[in-house]
Amino acid sequence: MSNIWNLLLPVSMVVNTIDKDCQYYQQLDRGHNYYIFNKEYPQNYSAGSSCQWIAKSPKGSKIFLSCDDVTMPKSSKCIQDRIDITFSGSTNLSESHKYCGEGSFSLITEENMLSLTLKTSKRSPGGRFLCAVTALMENTTQMSMNEFAAPNVQPSCQCGWKNDKRIVGGEETLVNEYPAMAGLITRNGKHLCGATIISSRYVITAAHCVYNTDVNTLFLLVGDHDYTTGTDTGFSAIYRVKAYEMWDGYNPSNFQGDIAIVMVDKINFNDNVGPICLPFRYTYETFEREEVTAVGWGQLEFSGQESNVLREVDLEVISNAVCRQDVPSLIDSQMCTFTEGKDACQGDSGGPLFWQNPTTKKLFIVGIISKGLGCGSAVPSENTRVTSYLEWIQRRTGEFFCSA
Ligand SMILES: *[C@@H]1O[C@H](CO)[C@@H](O)[C@H](O)[C@H]1NC(C)=O
Ligand SMILES: *[C@@H]1O[C@H](CO)[C@@H](O)[C@H](O)[C@H]1NC(C)=O
Ligand SMILES: *[C@@H]1O[C@H](CO)[C@@H](O)[C@H](O)[C@H]1NC(C)=O
Repeated sequence: MSNIWNLLLPVSMVVNTIDKDCQYYQQLDRGHNYYIFNKEYPQNYSAGSSCQWIAKSPKGSKIFLSCDDVTMPKSSKCIQDRIDITFSGSTNLSESHKYCGEGSFSLITEENMLSLTLKTSKRSPGGRFLCAVTALMENTTQMSMNEFAAPNVQPSCQCGWKNDKRIVGGEETLVNEYPAMAGLITRNGKHLCGATIISSRYVITAAHCVYNTDVNTLFLLVGDHDYTTGTDTGFSAIYRVKAYEMWDGYNPSNFQGDIAIVMVDKINFNDNVGPICLPFRYTYETFEREEVTAVGWGQLEFSGQESNVLREVDLEVISNAVCRQDVPSLIDSQMCTFTEGKDACQGDSGGPLFWQNPTTKKLFIVGIISKGLGCGSAVPSENTRVTSYLEWIQRRTGEFFCSA
């Protein structure tokens, strides 16, 4: 079900720079989708305008915003035309995310308020934007699993595609089957950990992969398959790691909070190298009993040897309650996988658990492989639950992430 953003109510706070006839307020009911767009859409907005949309959702919920068609002139630091987004509903724009240029993005609020402001320069050539918003709430999983269809637009920024050239798999992946798959390596090309591309500047991995590591010794390998040869794919590239940040609460003794963001200069995207989708719209999904795919250059089952080629294995997510029978210390921001005889092994650390939307076929990263107790052991293995860290990723990177 979808509602056009149709209520026009006076906004109590006075924002004197906003055009008075261009302020919108909408209370979001759960289960509905709403659209925000420049009022001339699909025509261009006019120069020198300034509009604000404020959305409020029920207490305890968060707002998911997905902007699938943004076509605006790009300027340095978006000082000309721009969209400013604040999460708390505050109009303090110094706390905002700024967006300009062309593309699509998604984000989720920390609380139940969202403010989106459009400001256009006096000499603007024009532009347009269309976003969908919906309230995300715990225990409304059926709703969030459904896709909501924005009007027909072609996103110009994509994530989570898979290069599927075969029907069923053995364990070795196809060359460049997973464009978001990356690896942390040493200067000498030794494989350390898996990592997953989330934007052109950032990958995510496990905190224990970078803990106590000199950033100058770390490199990122993308687009590769067999990391011992340079000949199996023309898309492999190595980037120097510029910085990393572990989750503040990472506890190396029990692997809780085992997630880190790693920054590089700029990854060149192509059909075989590109970002995964972050699971903003599945914030409250537990993924219980869903099948996920672990991908990595980890140890081959029982042999203790790392694999030179990228491999994959399908695993089942088990509920945290069931997992606690084996792992009493498990916390909500962890996720367990178990499938008899198969599991991610230690060398897969930092790599992704991908979940594929059955309708759109897009891949989302829902877990980061944290602590595999052993290959094919009887005990479930622990992963970091990515939905628990989305706000942090957003806040620390300041990026807009592709929609899906
Ligand atoms: C806006 O936010 C900045 C940074 O958080 C803060 O320093 C400033 O005092 C805030 N301004 C207002 C008016 O709240
Ligand atoms: C609409 O805006 C875009 C982006 O700035 C611009 O390239 C285009 O020429 C504009 N179209 C019209 C009809 O003004
Ligand atoms: C969601 O459901 C679980 C169990 O079904 C319950 O324990 C929890 O309190 C619910 N949360 C909310 C916000 O209603």
